[in-house]
Amino acid sequence: MKNLQRLDKVISTQTSYSRKEIKSLAKQGDICVNSVVCKQSDVKIDPDTDVVTVCSEKIEYKQYVYYMLNKPKGVLSASNDKSAPTVIDLIPDSLYRKNLFPAGRLDKDTTGLLIITDDGDYAHRMLAPNKKVYKHYIATLENELTGQEKEQFENGIVLNDGTVCQKAYFEKIGSNRALVKICEGKFHQVKKMFSACSHTVVELERVQIGELKLDPALEYGQVRELTKEEREAVFDSKNDQI
Ligand code: URA
Repeated sequence: MKNLQRLDKVISTQTSYSRKEIKSLAKQGDICVNSVVCKQSDVKIDPDTDVVTVCSEKIEYKQYVYYMLNKPKGVLSASNDKSAPTVIDLIPDSLYRKNLFPAGRLDKDTTGLLIITDDGDYAHRMLAPNKKVYKHYIATLENELTGQEKEQFENGIVLNDGTVCQKAYFEKIGSNRALVKICEGKFHQVKKMFSACSHTVVELERVQIGELKLDPALEYGQVRELTKEEREAVFDSKNDQI
């Protein structure tokens, strides 16, 4: 089946060019479809089969993209912000497209695995608590664990404001460090869960979503595209026991 779309729409969703810029590039003869100069930016093409070049650069058409970022501290999980850098500012030009957004939020001081995409349905599936996609965090606490936390997390923490959290996985991995797995995404959830157990979180890192692990080769601030298998690993779960 043909997937006919306007040429300017295809180029605009795959690149950072605006429709106005595309129109003027077309007029200048800088856009080709199947090696033929195309001066009209509103013609219909099939991005699955037609080869489009802009200034001799081939457009690799993808309906959606999925990136993994190792989020550093000090960056906001937002698409744009006037006062602070955002995770979208970390996307290199070669991977940039319009409509990218972070699938879920990490606090400004939280580090680790963040997925950036332009696929709203994918993000929804990953984030909706009833989809049971577990997010894994390593929390470093100001003080030592008491030994009671595991039971508290496994029974369902009641936050200090009375909100009841779903049962969560808890594993002590150091005197003041724990691995926590949750499938909800309430604002500051992990910090608030520890606060309800009289703990202060001093470092928080997300290390895994579903079965997708943060790539250890990614430095803070680096981004790379997910493979198809990695994209789907988000929805695999070995956590049925929680
Ligand atoms: N829980 C938090 O408290 N902060 C995050 O960034 C993510 C989960």
